[in-house]
Amino acid sequence: MEESSEEQQPQPHDTAIWIEKYRPSTFEEVKGQKEIVEKLKAFIRQRNMPHLMFTGPAGTGKSTLAIVIAKQLFGENWKQNFLELNASDERGIDVVRVKVKDFARTKAIGDVPFKIIFLDESDALTREAQQALRRTMENYTHTTRFILSNNYSSKIIDPIQSRCTIFRFRPLEKNDVFQIIENICKKESLTMEDNAKQALFSICDGDCRRVENILQACAAIAKDINEELIFSMASVARPKEVLTILQLAIQNKFIDARNKLLDVMLNYGLSGLDIIKQIQKEVWNLSVSDKKKVELIDKCGEIEFRMVEGSDEYVQLEALLAQFTLCSLDK
Ligand SMILES: Nc1ncnc2c1ncn2[C@@H]1O[C@H](COP(=O)(O)OP(=O)(O)O)[C@@H](O)[C@H]1O
Ligand SMILES: [Mg+2]
Repeated sequence: MEESSEEQQPQPHDTAIWIEKYRPSTFEEVKGQKEIVEKLKAFIRQRNMPHLMFTGPAGTGKSTLAIVIAKQLFGENWKQNFLELNASDERGIDVVRVKVKDFARTKAIGDVPFKIIFLDESDALTREAQQALRRTMENYTHTTRFILSNNYSSKIIDPIQSRCTIFRFRPLEKNDVFQIIENICKKESLTMEDNAKQALFSICDGDCRRVENILQACAAIAKDINEELIFSMASVARPKEVLTILQLAIQNKFIDARNKLLDVMLNYGLSGLDIIKQIQKEVWNLSVSDKKKVELIDKCGEIEFRMVEGSDEYVQLEALLAQFTLCSLDK
């Protein structure tokens, strides 16, 4: 057998996932969400807090801030005093109840009189499960505080909402996303032009997890990251290409539009659902009347629904393009 010498070994690879590697661990490192951060800091100063609900889109700092709170309150012992549960993983509320019970039975370590239970994706719980959760929250209110996280607070029953202080997270703004990108570029020795940063920002809609995942995927391929690479790793077509498809369709060049659509989808490995979201964005850039735009947006919604229900995506996309062509004919 051959012995592998040091030189033959590949360079030790940095295997950390960037969304963890670059997760802020202090309030100061968190970008945006300024009002929320200020209020949370006040809770830390008082060494007390109510139940909290963090609501808003993905990748905006909800889990991050829950962990920052725990680190600030409990210091080194934070992991013993912080239980993270994911409502969509846990099979039923009974599992949640048992875990909460076990966790809440022992007293918090340190000078803070409560432990924290972080329940992620709480909007995945059924109404019945939420009723049970509400009772659990009441039962352990002296020894625990809950932080519920979700995308839509409206899916949470009123009695839980009224027990929590609600914080609404916003998608990160361009400035903040650029700072995050630039920080990572510096630490990972990457170079990136402004147009590539802009592309990454517009693809991600303020979802920082997505920003970091796409960046990491790109960095595995090149140290100099350009717009082209961003679009291909993000599996989105260039907005211009999508617009071209739609323009062909409304110019009555249906076959050309269809061929170009097929090209773009195969090129970027897009699903029907991926492309329909992009089409919907580009409708606003077409030179047709506002009334037509609204009609086309309505069609996008209908086609998306049919796809979600499982109908053939190529058939549906062609039907959608046909609508664009028809819309130009009945001027
Ligand atoms: N406000 C923010 N400031 C800085 N980084 C952020 C922010 N929000 C998200 N991130 C980055 O994105 C990753 C995922 O964020 P997370 O807090 O888990 O999002 P979610 O809101 O979905 O819980 C974090 O690890 C961090 O690297
Ligand atoms: Mg989260």
